[in-house]
Amino acid sequence: MHIVLLGAPGSGKGTQAGIISQRLGIAHVASGDLFREAANRGDELGQQVKSYMEKGLLVPDEITIKMISECIAAPDCNKGFILDGFPRTLGQAKALDEALGEKGESVEMALYIEVSTKELVRRLSGRFICRGCQTIYHAITSPRQVGAGRCERCGGELYQRSDDLPETVRKRIEVYFAETSPLIDYYRGEGKLVEINGEGAIEEVEQKVLGALKGKWA
Ligand code: AP5
Ligand code: MG
Ligand code: ZN
Repeated sequence: MHIVLLGAPGSGKGTQAGIISQRLGIAHVASGDLFREAANRGDELGQQVKSYMEKGLLVPDEITIKMISECIAAPDCNKGFILDGFPRTLGQAKALDEALGEKGESVEMALYIEVSTKELVRRLSGRFICRGCQTIYHAITSPRQVGAGRCERCGGELYQRSDDLPETVRKRIEVYFAETSPLIDYYRGEGKLVEINGEGAIEEVEQKVLGALKGKWA
């Protein structure tokens, strides 16, 4: 199973990818999480990517493709993966097709989670994330955990991403429409696109996603 998740910042890619990867036992590969880990470590990759992320800009393809290619070649991706945040440009999508093609594999499905811009802004402004296990919360949908400031799974501290400030959110959404939304047509053209209305509650969106996967694999 090689699934790609498409959707704007705040559409719920990380939330749904976390649920699906646990249910299906496939790897959850989140380019943003990998970049944030590197930035926290302060290693060479981290230093390269930090300024792009802080400004809400895309990290250059060359860096991003190298990082994801290494990641999906690792043993924990043997059973398949769900990609969250990659590809984000046509160049990245083609590089992914090539990397999988060399192994006789391919992306089987691109799930596009569609959410209005107003709702994206609302979701990102209230998001909190666990430093320990990256579980995602929201001040409105999980007030108890956010109020306590601790993750209910691992006890880790909850924090807000520095790129969730209103100005950076606006930039990220702008960049999404300019650079990433053309991928919707790319995967539609390949006959791989499945569109999901992402406006409902987390559990409702989860049911739609699982329904799409069952339709293909069950
Ligand atoms: P990345 O970390 O991928 O951020 P993003 O795409 O902007 O997406 P988000 O993580 O903000 O949103 P999400 O869709 O995962 O939503 P979530 O599930 O958290 O990338 C960050 C940066 O890294 C980029 O700006 C770029 O610089 C760099 N980068 C990463 N990948 C790159 C690439 N391929 N190429 C170049 N650069 C790259 O949900 C949001 C909130 O809503 C949460 O609080 C959640 O609880 C809540 N929520 C979720 N679903 C629902 C629902 N159904 N109802 C109500 N609330 C909900
Ligand atoms: Mg995310
Ligand atoms: Zn946690």
